[in-house]
Amino acid sequence: MSGRDQAGPNDDRAERPERRHVLVAVAWPYANGSLHLGHLAGAYLPADIFARYHRIAGNRVLMVSGSDGHGTPITVRAEQESTTPRAIVERFHPEFLRYWDELGISFDLFTTTLTENHAATTQEVLRGLHENGLLEARTTLQPFDPVALRFLPDRYVEGTCPRCGSDGARGDQCDACGATLDPIDLVDPRSKLTGATPEQRETEHFFFLLPKLEERMIAWLESRQGWRPHVINWALGFVREGFHDRAITRDIDWGVALPDDVTLTGAEGKRIYVWFDAVIGYLSASREWAQRSGDPEAWRAWWEDPAAESYYFIGKDNVPFHAVFWPAQLMGSGTFNLPTNVPANQYVTFKGAKASKSRGVGRSLLDYLEVYQPDALRYAVAAHLPEQADVDLTEEDMVRRINDELSAAWGNLVNRVFAMTAKNFDGIVPDPGELADVDRALLATIDAVLVDGAAALEAVELRRALRLALSGAQEVNAYLNELEPWRTAKTDRARTATTLNTALQAISGLVVAFAPFTPFSSATIHGWLGLGGTLEDGGWRRPDVPVGSRLGDAVPLFARVELAEPETQAADVASEALTSDSAEG
Ligand code: MF3
Ligand code: ZN
Repeated sequence: MSGRDQAGPNDDRAERPERRHVLVAVAWPYANGSLHLGHLAGAYLPADIFARYHRIAGNRVLMVSGSDGHGTPITVRAEQESTTPRAIVERFHPEFLRYWDELGISFDLFTTTLTENHAATTQEVLRGLHENGLLEARTTLQPFDPVALRFLPDRYVEGTCPRCGSDGARGDQCDACGATLDPIDLVDPRSKLTGATPEQRETEHFFFLLPKLEERMIAWLESRQGWRPHVINWALGFVREGFHDRAITRDIDWGVALPDDVTLTGAEGKRIYVWFDAVIGYLSASREWAQRSGDPEAWRAWWEDPAAESYYFIGKDNVPFHAVFWPAQLMGSGTFNLPTNVPANQYVTFKGAKASKSRGVGRSLLDYLEVYQPDALRYAVAAHLPEQADVDLTEEDMVRRINDELSAAWGNLVNRVFAMTAKNFDGIVPDPGELADVDRALLATIDAVLVDGAAALEAVELRRALRLALSGAQEVNAYLNELEPWRTAKTDRARTATTLNTALQAISGLVVAFAPFTPFSSATIHGWLGLGGTLEDGGWRRPDVPVGSRLGDAVPLFARVELAEPETQAADVASEALTSDSAEG
């Protein structure tokens, strides 16, 4: 488990009238390799920014995810290394926990899909669909490798895409055009194991009768408000083209087993497939969190109360599974809440990036953390989140953001104001006396940054919220340049007191505005301001810095970063945003 060990913070804030329940559901990464900047930008950082905002705003956040331990990405790697799938997961899961810890990705629980609780929850959802007449056992033809003498999971069949003609299509999906496929659709299919042409053999499987849900699904999708156009358009287009029955079991031996009471002939050799079980992780992880928190029923507040909200943070390759199939699983199996929003991100690409030995593209998050402070990395990535379109990220962009914006406009501002207060007022917050228009205008601007920032964060427009915080810092810099407290200190002590007090109050507001993005430094400055308690306790508003209180000793917050090495090699690497191994169909 990483980060927080309990959600529902700040229970003493009973005076807050509405404390919303907000489920922050984050894509489950396959535990078959290290994670990269694309993963961070695609899901984990946006989810964390959103969760932190809601916690500060006083809402009850439950943020869950875990290692996806099933599916071909895991079994392929295990085969390559002649080890077990479980051993692969047990290697990468602890590495993921380290990322969250070092980057401040504040999961309430980051578990795995290999738990008994997850298997039981998956079986329960399956049972619910069965009881509601939405599952049917059916004998089908499946690709069978005549050389390896085994059935082939979708991903073990490769061939030419029937839609776009690309040669690299897999049995589940074509990455070139995004088509969702069945192995039988492929032109010139071949087995990934042996290269043999697969035969079709009979086998019995459960099918999810999605067409029965088509009307409800269209009505539900049409009722969604505020979804990103690329997500809602894709989902509606997909369902309007016509839902098809979809197999949920496979002839494989790694995955969640069928329940004893809803079974098939030859069930020992069959498992529930990963596309069906992984998304159920959101529900099973919520239950595991409740179990661990000592109130086993606590998860229900996020899943059963119709007023509760749920946001799914994923990369765009996972849109089908979260905007369509998971809602259908929920709709068909019981009465749990459907997603409030699925703010999927597009891809981060590194086309213009130059690879270098110690840094550059293709590095794991831990490699980046050796070069950048966690807040600096978070800031640079947040400034480039691919919310509406693909973003091409270069290391030059990241370095510029950190040096020119985070460090120069924000970090140095804090240090200058603290240093001037130390020098002229012994580090004691001076009495501002009567504020002039210029002072009141600055504070009004900062308060507007918080109001507009909250609206942007609520709408999951995170880049806009970050730009607002930065613009607030730039306003305080402009205010100081206009009023020149370093000059008035020699001539007009009262005016200097007003200016520095006002700048400190403004900083106090910006600490909150930046906190979802750069939580480590915001917590540090919060401490220096002597406000007491935690930043979260203060709410999403500008806390008053009391006159006469003693400021902490500020030290520079952000180290200047530089491009470490001469660029050697051009690279053209596509996004790693959960794309290379998307959930399987
Ligand atoms: N492990 C899959 C992927 O990385 C699916 C992630 S989201 C899930 O693409 F909810 F489906 F698990
Ligand atoms: Zn294609």
